[in-house]
Amino acid sequence: MSTQSASGAVGNVTVNGVKLWEDILETARFGGTPKGGIRRLALTEEDRQVRDWFVRACEALGCTVSHDSMGNQFARRPGTEETLPPITMGSHLDTQPTGGKFDGIVGVLGGLAVLRTLHETGRETRHPIELINWTNEEGSRFAPAMLSSGVFAGVFTEQEALDTKDREGVRFGDALEGIGYRGVEVCGAHPVAAYFELHIEQGPILEVEHKTIGIVTGVQGMRWYEVTLTGRDSHAGSTPMRMRADALVTAARLIDAVQTIALEHGPDAVGTVGLIENRPNSRNVVPGDVFFAVDFRDPDDSIVQKMEEAFYAQASELAEAAGLTLEIARVWDTPAVQFDPECIASVARAADALGYPARRIVSGAGHDATYMAQVAPTAMIFVPCAGGLSHNEEESAEPDDVTAGANVLLRAVLETDMR
Ligand code: GLV
Ligand code: MN
Ligand code: MN
Ligand code: MN
Repeated sequence: MSTQSASGAVGNVTVNGVKLWEDILETARFGGTPKGGIRRLALTEEDRQVRDWFVRACEALGCTVSHDSMGNQFARRPGTEETLPPITMGSHLDTQPTGGKFDGIVGVLGGLAVLRTLHETGRETRHPIELINWTNEEGSRFAPAMLSSGVFAGVFTEQEALDTKDREGVRFGDALEGIGYRGVEVCGAHPVAAYFELHIEQGPILEVEHKTIGIVTGVQGMRWYEVTLTGRDSHAGSTPMRMRADALVTAARLIDAVQTIALEHGPDAVGTVGLIENRPNSRNVVPGDVFFAVDFRDPDDSIVQKMEEAFYAQASELAEAAGLTLEIARVWDTPAVQFDPECIASVARAADALGYPARRIVSGAGHDATYMAQVAPTAMIFVPCAGGLSHNEEESAEPDDVTAGANVLLRAVLETDMR
């Protein structure tokens, strides 16, 4: 299909960027923080509030809204050929504990803006169009991330997802029931023609290069680990230094090792310890029990594997030298993903037709698109965010860029519908 005929067929439709921005600000109230961010952990009261808002907003645009057994929400606009599988758009409305107003939200509300344009212009599509709000993308409350798109794609079983517990011991399934969003429709049941996810970049590249659109070609490989070091609680005043089994000191050495390992494995490798629990966490007790989580990522899976091996070796060595018991488990492994060439091309053509400066880019962050790519032709659209900052209450994006991203989403969906 040539650019000319594609753009001619799609026409000059655009989204209402003003309304899209209003929606972003309006929904930011649900879990809004004094610093202008959002704390909306999966399956909390704030999550319920934004879900209820989503239902009302989509129904007002003539969509039918349902949710499946994982609480994933689907807003469906009928097509003229209802037997065709839907073209889908989506992202997530949950946030990090100190999250921003854009991560995930832009993809859902950008999709809503697309539905609004279709509704208000009375545009018919052959395929049904679906907008999806995925449950628990962040993995902050319930690990791992992308849990419910993972069940949809068959990466996790529904039972293991429902039995996942947060750090307070609350079961995912109970929390889901608690907010009234455990549906009867079995998660993962329906075929999908294509999936497009709009998202802020969460990194600095587009802003630095003055590009409005990132044509996302794939997502880098990621692994998560949980580490428990067990020594012995003892008195901080009376236990001689040589008679201690201090779990926190070894944890500190291992956290440092995570950083060194990432730095030693090439320019793209990253390693993070963002979660740690020190017990009993009392200032005059030598800590005997430490839990922490490790996150390693690289676009090349073999590098992630090498970082894992280096970390396991150092963890064993340091724990043994300190006389500690070590438990270490890989709790998440998401290999690098390449998106669908046709969907990528649709995004590229849409950016081109609209005259937006664009470049190809690999995602450093995980997205529901990672798992959707396993069951449907998939691609993503990135827009810049200020300073590349994300997972931060100060996360910020320009209204014009968000609108541009939603316009690209709209065009990519319409072009796909015509293929
Ligand atoms: C999810 O936000 C991730 O990339 O970890
Ligand atoms: Mn996200
Ligand atoms: Mn995130
Ligand atoms: Mn994410």
